[in-house]
Amino acid sequence: MEKRIPIIAGNWKMHLNLASAKELIDEIKKTVMHTRDREVLVAPPFVYLISVREFIADSAIYLSAQNMHWDEKGAYTGEISASMLIEAGCTHVILGHSERRHLFGETDDFIDLKVKMAHQSGIKPILCIGEDLSQRENGETFEVIKSQLEGSLKSFIEQRTTPYDLIIAYEPVWAIGTGQTATPDQAQEVHCFIRQWIGDTFGRELSGKIRILYGGSVKPANISELMAQPDIDGVLVGGASLNAEQFIPIINYDKKEG
Ligand code: PGA
Repeated sequence: MEKRIPIIAGNWKMHLNLASAKELIDEIKKTVMHTRDREVLVAPPFVYLISVREFIADSAIYLSAQNMHWDEKGAYTGEISASMLIEAGCTHVILGHSERRHLFGETDDFIDLKVKMAHQSGIKPILCIGEDLSQRENGETFEVIKSQLEGSLKSFIEQRTTPYDLIIAYEPVWAIGTGQTATPDQAQEVHCFIRQWIGDTFGRELSGKIRILYGGSVKPANISELMAQPDIDGVLVGGASLNAEQFIPIINYDKKEG
């Protein structure tokens, strides 16, 4: 089976200022210098992207945006296009985060268009999916995940194309920012289901190499047991990515020098 390089991604959401971002990046850089067996990525707010690109310039840290628009250009006040993100130095973009879905009304249809545009533009989409608490309690988790995958990747399915640069983040909504992490078994079960779905839909080549990240209250205390699961290929970290004391031990989980 193909080796999947783990991804440790920090989603800053609407946090930090430029000075604290610089301090954090300086600390991350020191650790990333000695790390070759995993990819580290930060997702700052839009207005900091160009500055953070400078901060990470001589390092292996990747730059991600937290969202983007699905169209190339146009009269979309307040929106940002894929080509603008690429010009700002982004290699990745988070799409369909549960906060975008729940607080800003993003539907699978919008997210599908965004994933498609990211793919066409050469920026790697990190597609977020996940069930909420009542869906989990009602035993609907797999149904919800399947429907989000089908909806958010509809264009690829219809056009019979394969999203080779896709990264998926499984983020159970009930675990985001709540301190309540999915157990490694709960996460593994869903990750395995997602990989199976990818294999059935796009073929075994993609399912063997696609990276599926877990997100939701990841901390230094639970990173190693999550990463020990066979289908967990990395993490998308919110709160604990905002300070070096927490994010660096997450990056360095069970560190093996590459
Ligand atoms: P959290 O956020 O780590 O603060 O739970 C994760 C996310 O929303 O990506």
